[in-house]
Amino acid sequence: MIKATEVATVPVDGTRYHDRRHARVESDHIWRKTWLLAALASDLETPNGTVTFDVGHDSIIIARAKDGALYAYHNACTHRGTRLLEEGVGSTPLITCPYHAWCFKLDGSLRGAPDPDSFAEGLPADRLRIKPVRLETWQGFVFVNMDPEAEPLSGFLGKLVERAAPYQIAKMDLIEDQTVSVGCNWKAMIDNFSELYHVDHIHPQHKRFVDCPSATDELFENGHTGLYVPGFVTDSRYPVPDKPTDYQEMQLTALGIDASEFVGRVAEIPAAITRAKREQSGSNGYDYSALSDEQLTTVFQYNLFPNIILSGSPEGLWMMRSRPHPDDPSKSYLDKWTLQLSPDPALGGNPEHKQTMHAASGNSEAVDGRVPRDCFGHEDILSGNKSMTETIDQDISLLARVQAGARSSGFDRAWLSDQEIRVAHFHDALNETYRAAGLLEEMNLSA
Ligand code: FES
Ligand SMILES: [Fe+2]
Repeated sequence: MIKATEVATVPVDGTRYHDRRHARVESDHIWRKTWLLAALASDLETPNGTVTFDVGHDSIIIARAKDGALYAYHNACTHRGTRLLEEGVGSTPLITCPYHAWCFKLDGSLRGAPDPDSFAEGLPADRLRIKPVRLETWQGFVFVNMDPEAEPLSGFLGKLVERAAPYQIAKMDLIEDQTVSVGCNWKAMIDNFSELYHVDHIHPQHKRFVDCPSATDELFENGHTGLYVPGFVTDSRYPVPDKPTDYQEMQLTALGIDASEFVGRVAEIPAAITRAKREQSGSNGYDYSALSDEQLTTVFQYNLFPNIILSGSPEGLWMMRSRPHPDDPSKSYLDKWTLQLSPDPALGGNPEHKQTMHAASGNSEAVDGRVPRDCFGHEDILSGNKSMTETIDQDISLLARVQAGARSSGFDRAWLSDQEIRVAHFHDALNETYRAAGLLEEMNLSA
């Protein structure tokens, strides 16, 4: 087994969580050079659809033009720079700058400007096209890259492409769309979702449906990581209960299995779930044929460097995205998209299922089939006004405290366990960037 200390050869210092020079280096060399998950392809299916994605001081527009193609470009007018569109999902045939009404087509080209004769140098089309950004799609997600020299997305994702292939992520529907502003650096959020060491202490409910001590980690090139947690079981650190837990009962019932059959046989539940899914595959709305038996009962998580967490099962996924605050390194945003694979009526699935899921998430007010985005602060979670599920609420409730302590003069560096090897791998990838910018040497952290 690889040890965390073998992965992170450079200490994870507290400074990187609040220092503006680190934030500046991250902006120039990570956010502006890396493939970033920017949008859901389903929000850009029809011509005139737009999504505006903000990251730090940059904002990118992704648009489906009349020619049917997707375009990505900076959200900055080529006249005097004004931000053209607000953040979020929209639809417009043309983009008109709110300042002097320059008008752009959705392919980013300038369509016209008021009083064109007043420009001594004219309005050269090539020069005045909005600055383009690279764009590629994968698994129903649109990725952008501000670096024209970047390697193709598939090369950046590497092994993750084949790992995710058996899951039908691109077919999943958006059930809930939330953004919370948090009082911690964006990396503290990624650290939190890179280890299970905290689970037994913060998420006591998890012992009733997953076995975290039996989870396995996987480290990939480019700072990506994977995690596989056995599901439908109880935590192996505790005695197996006599009766199925409340979670197990729900999971069994969903597959039409009588939970009372498993009194005294709780350890047999995962095998029963696997059997039921195999037997029902193709007739209950789901096709499990591409998945292994293990995958049928495993909760997977893939962290895409730098800021994406994809956590899910064959039937659903959370996409969580940590984004830096543009000016304050001690603040960030967490976007969470809840995606569900709706049972396919062609495979015997219930066509009402999607509406039921919308209602269950509290977002039954979907407009044209799209749930609205809900933005709030972490105080709303602390006060109970908003929830991103019990588990995420528990994490978010703690992260401002993590930030406060890591920023104090009483903390110098993290002391990582082997259970935090994915934290180490994430920071190792960051260290390459910090090293190249001279930050490690400056802080006497060079290995
Ligand atoms: S800044 Fe956009 S039209 Fe002037
Ligand atoms: Fe957690």
